[in-house]
Amino acid sequence: MANVVPLFDSKTPAAQATGKVILVGAGPGDPGLLTRKAFAALTTADILFYDDLVSAEILAEVPPSVRRVYVGKPNGAAKITQEEIISLLADAARTYAHVVRLKGGDPLIFGRGGEEIEGLRLEGISVDVIPGITAAQGAASTTHIPLTHRDHSAQIAYVTAVRRDGALADFRNLAGEGKTLVVYMGLGKAAEISAALKDDGIPGDFPVAIVENATRPGERRFVTTVDQMAALVAAKVVRSPALLLIGKVATAASARVHTEDTAVTHGEFNWVHFAHG
Ligand SMILES: C[S@@+](CC[C@H](N)C(=O)[O-])C[C@H]1O[C@@H](n2cnc3c(N)ncnc32)[C@H](O)[C@@H]1O
Repeated sequence: MANVVPLFDSKTPAAQATGKVILVGAGPGDPGLLTRKAFAALTTADILFYDDLVSAEILAEVPPSVRRVYVGKPNGAAKITQEEIISLLADAARTYAHVVRLKGGDPLIFGRGGEEIEGLRLEGISVDVIPGITAAQGAASTTHIPLTHRDHSAQIAYVTAVRRDGALADFRNLAGEGKTLVVYMGLGKAAEISAALKDDGIPGDFPVAIVENATRPGERRFVTTVDQMAALVAAKVVRSPALLLIGKVATAASARVHTEDTAVTHGEFNWVHFAHG
């Protein structure tokens, strides 16, 4: 097992164990977007498990008295498996009174929260869930891109770019007039997504917004097109975490574009409008 510290010692208060894990959504990164329940859970935890998607600003809210266990993927090290995480959580729930599993965004949206609930139930551990603001809502709030709009979009699809078996997701019928498509984990597949959308009849000049580090310091925003989005990701070195928001609603944002290629500052409506070549 990679990267695992011993969790229990002779002073561990086993008698207080509740046999419960609280699965907590940390939101997209801004600590102001934690719910009151989430804040209460992470400030009263005995032990807290977290991974890479939890922002430094959120972790700064966790008191030093809370034992923290990182279950992400440190540079170059082997990733701890989902089964190993479930086993660690179950052991902790048998030992500590307040066990928190903190996840970026909402734990039940592309967060493997469902797998952790199932695995913990099999271990006889009960789970409470505290929801978090998902990245799409965070990005919409800072960019003012409306996910629905009476003139542009009456439906939203949240899609992960890649399925569990590594294949590209099925993008048919998800984008187009009257629809908003939000792609999670799509950066590395931007060219394939662009091709899949065009195969589905979406025009090359259809609007796309890309939001990196939504709600965090250093948030970057770009407006581009289905044709240009892969070139933008490469040229601007867009990094994870980032979302692709595809639809006419992105045009509502591009109406605010007033810079050509300047650095983008969190909280201001500066956009980089990208057209390659
Ligand atoms: C494993 S998924 C987790 C999603 C999370 N549970 C949620 O509800 O937002 C990770 C992906 O979420 C998106 N994401 C999460 N936080 C983000 C942020 N602050 N800004 C932009 N995208 C974000 C990115 O697409 C990232 O690759």
